[in-house]
Amino acid sequence: MALYPQSFLDDLRLQADIVTVVQDVVALKRVGNRYSGLCPFHGEKTASFSVNREQGLFYCFGCQVGGNVFKFVELHEKVSFPEAVKLLANRFGMPLPEPTDGGHDPAVDSEREALLKMHELATALYRETLAGANGRRGRQMLEDRGLTAATIDRLQLGFAPPGRDLLAKQLRQKGFELPLMLRSGLVMDRDGTPVDRFRNRLMIPIAREGGSIVAFGGRSMDAETQPKYLNSPETPLFSKSRAVYGLDLARQKIVESRVVAVVEGYTDVVMAHQYGATNVVSILGTAMTEQHVGILRRFADKIVLLFDADTAGDTAVDRTVELFLTQPVEIAIASMPEGVDPDEYLIEHGAEGFQKVLDTAHDALTYKWRQLSRHFAAEHDLTGRQKAVREYLDLLASARGSGPIDPIRWGQVLARVNRLTDMPVSDLNQMFRIFANVENRGSVSAFSNRTAALAWLGRPLS
Ligand code: GTP
Ligand code: MN
Repeated sequence: MALYPQSFLDDLRLQADIVTVVQDVVALKRVGNRYSGLCPFHGEKTASFSVNREQGLFYCFGCQVGGNVFKFVELHEKVSFPEAVKLLANRFGMPLPEPTDGGHDPAVDSEREALLKMHELATALYRETLAGANGRRGRQMLEDRGLTAATIDRLQLGFAPPGRDLLAKQLRQKGFELPLMLRSGLVMDRDGTPVDRFRNRLMIPIAREGGSIVAFGGRSMDAETQPKYLNSPETPLFSKSRAVYGLDLARQKIVESRVVAVVEGYTDVVMAHQYGATNVVSILGTAMTEQHVGILRRFADKIVLLFDADTAGDTAVDRTVELFLTQPVEIAIASMPEGVDPDEYLIEHGAEGFQKVLDTAHDALTYKWRQLSRHFAAEHDLTGRQKAVREYLDLLASARGSGPIDPIRWGQVLARVNRLTDMPVSDLNQMFRIFANVENRGSVSAFSNRTAALAWLGRPLS
């Protein structure tokens, strides 16, 4: 029987939203923090079937069948567990790892255990170091930033010792072999000798939603040491395109408020939590992925992205518009006032001021339109507006081409675009049809449409 590594199954379970999966076959109604509908496993006229998105579980009070998303697919599709895994991995775009053979693979399970244990040991070493003689500069940096001892403790911040292999030595003492150390990402191979990946850096542990530490971000102590932030590499425990920093701490508040704020930096999350804005997380790197959205929308109905003023530029916003079109969740954007980081803003204005900035958020479509209108406002005549509309529709067309969009969602999008730009919906429809044909490059009959569309866009014909 084929089996998959536990860490993959954990990730998939996190990714495969149970409400989405059940909704394919059962009409669900939101009831408080649960969803309810008619049980697909026994005939009934009153709804006794219940789904909890946050816990990822379903249960029928009528026939007492229940379980997680894998179980649901197994029962409903009448397939084996590995088949259910395959179906869900396909549906949620996660590449299947090589299956292992035989029963529960103890080697895989124990590797995962070992990797987690190594991260625990590393966290302990970094925390000790921060408190000791080697951590003096780290403590100074945290103090300069205004972090309290309570925050440092709660976020388990630490300091990686400057020596080349202190952690590696400790891990060896605890009986971990070199290949396993390398797989953890905490240790690197330098010509056959193990050296610590993180040295002389302020250490920020990155945890899963349940709190187990699976990776680190390490901030350098001076401008000469690059990169400024060094993250753990991809490991069996950690993948950057899915990781959400602070989710373990923010989860409770997100579930209560159904809103999550996503900021750009580690320090912004840390400060937000210190000042009591606790539904705040960040992603590691620049662009938000479908996987991030998939994880966040298990807990939130609305995602508010807070960009720094200087990074609210085109790429990040355009990417957000794309997600807004394709993902069934509200995505709004707010940006910081020029020249201020969220962390500085929190120090000056507290959680209330921070919330006020979040309240200025507009849904991604509106935000982008306002940005373009402002940009072309210099030519505040018809030409400026015409350029803004062109660029806007061009973006929407390419976003639309990026993946399947629910037709209902698309209809709502068109209605909003109509409201924003004053373009009649029928014209919009026609424009997007032409754009869609342009994508279809292989076809000769698309040529005149392509020419027409490019001409409309004011591009040189190529
Ligand atoms: P401080 O400078 O310590 O206040 O951090 P910051 O969070 O304000 O950093 P900055 O605004 O420069 O960057 C925002 C976020 O981008 C950081 O928190 C990191 O997540 C990420 N980042 C910045 N520089 C690097 C880097 O060199 N490597 C990586 N991997 N990420 C970085
Ligand atoms: Mn900063």
